[in-house]
Amino acid sequence: MHIRPLQSASVRFFSFLRRLHERAERFLELNPRLRAWIYPFGLSGPEERRREYNGQMFADFHEQERMLADTQRMAFYTRAIARHVQPGDRVVDLGTGTGILAALAARRGASQVYAVDHSEILGQAKELARANGVQRVEFISAHSSAFTTDAPLDVILHEQMGDCLFDEGMIASVSDLRDRLLKPGGIILPSNFEFFCEPVMIRDDRLVPFIWELNVEGYDYSCLERSKPQNPGYYNLASSDLGLVDHFLGESEPVLRVDLLTVNEGAMLREVTFSRKVIRPGRLDGYAVFFRVQVDRDLVLTSSPMDPGRAPHWGFRILRTERDDFSMGDEISVRLSVGSWSDPDTWRWSHQKHACSGLGLAGLPI
Ligand SMILES: C[S@@+](CC[C@H](N)C(=O)[O-])C[C@H]1O[C@@H](n2cnc3c(N)ncnc32)[C@H](O)[C@@H]1O
Repeated sequence: MHIRPLQSASVRFFSFLRRLHERAERFLELNPRLRAWIYPFGLSGPEERRREYNGQMFADFHEQERMLADTQRMAFYTRAIARHVQPGDRVVDLGTGTGILAALAARRGASQVYAVDHSEILGQAKELARANGVQRVEFISAHSSAFTTDAPLDVILHEQMGDCLFDEGMIASVSDLRDRLLKPGGIILPSNFEFFCEPVMIRDDRLVPFIWELNVEGYDYSCLERSKPQNPGYYNLASSDLGLVDHFLGESEPVLRVDLLTVNEGAMLREVTFSRKVIRPGRLDGYAVFFRVQVDRDLVLTSSPMDPGRAPHWGFRILRTERDDFSMGDEISVRLSVGSWSDPDTWRWSHQKHACSGLGLAGLPI
């Protein structure tokens, strides 16, 4: 008889605790020194959590299936290894997963391949190597930062690209191995990346506006603008749907170029500004984040939402903006600032409109 009030009180109590915990986590995220004081052994920093998540995610067979069945990705790596790993090379495969790239390097004649991974998938990688008679591959269950060798390496082989390029910790992991173990003149496969953040219009029938932009059958949601969510994830949309983006408003070009042979994460720009002359008018709905990686002039891989030849298993992100309409010849000036490139939740963006008729301002409230 008294169960119902008790139940609803406990639901309220636990959802209050959950909200409190989420707020505290967000607060600590913005105050790393306080976090370090509360978690003195680094048990729960963003980097630790990312590593743990990463290790668990790649232990999942379906995640591996999606990567292995991505024919664009596999053709790119097969050709890159065939062209650039030389017989006799000493190679590390950073983040070997099921061991496929290590196996291709061994097949190419590498004298020694170190296949390093911190995920439990390494158990299956060893089993696969045995079953396929792979020779000269040593499997190492570790995070790459704990891996070392006696003699320097000729090649760092890796596939550490996330949907937002940097969000799997590629720069930190690869540059650490480069600085400690790569011999002078050694190569990183792949090393040349372009990062895009392209203003887009989403197809009308796919567009989901912010809730405060909606008016459904005369029911006006604009008052919810006062309650804009604070969680950064709300402001970006992950998709791999090639039918989502109607068009790029301007001519697409990279906003950042990264060469892993020289990049240093600490020295990377934390703010990128760029502009686009509108050559395809329409509504700005956000910025599509994707990448392009090049090994040779004719050996390229892209995750662009407008490229039917894209590597299909990568998603892309739309950094959402409030609706803003652009005419031919207008200019969009965009500012993207990042707390950490490896954590898209720390990215913030805004734009200015330079219309023939004057200047407008727009941005995200977070
Ligand atoms: C995108 S998967 C690529 C797997 C495999 N190389 C392939 O191409 O199929 C990335 C792998 O790297 C591992 N990984 C990521 N960062 C790592 C690091 N710093 N040290 C060791 N393993 C790492 C993950 O556990 C995952 O198995």
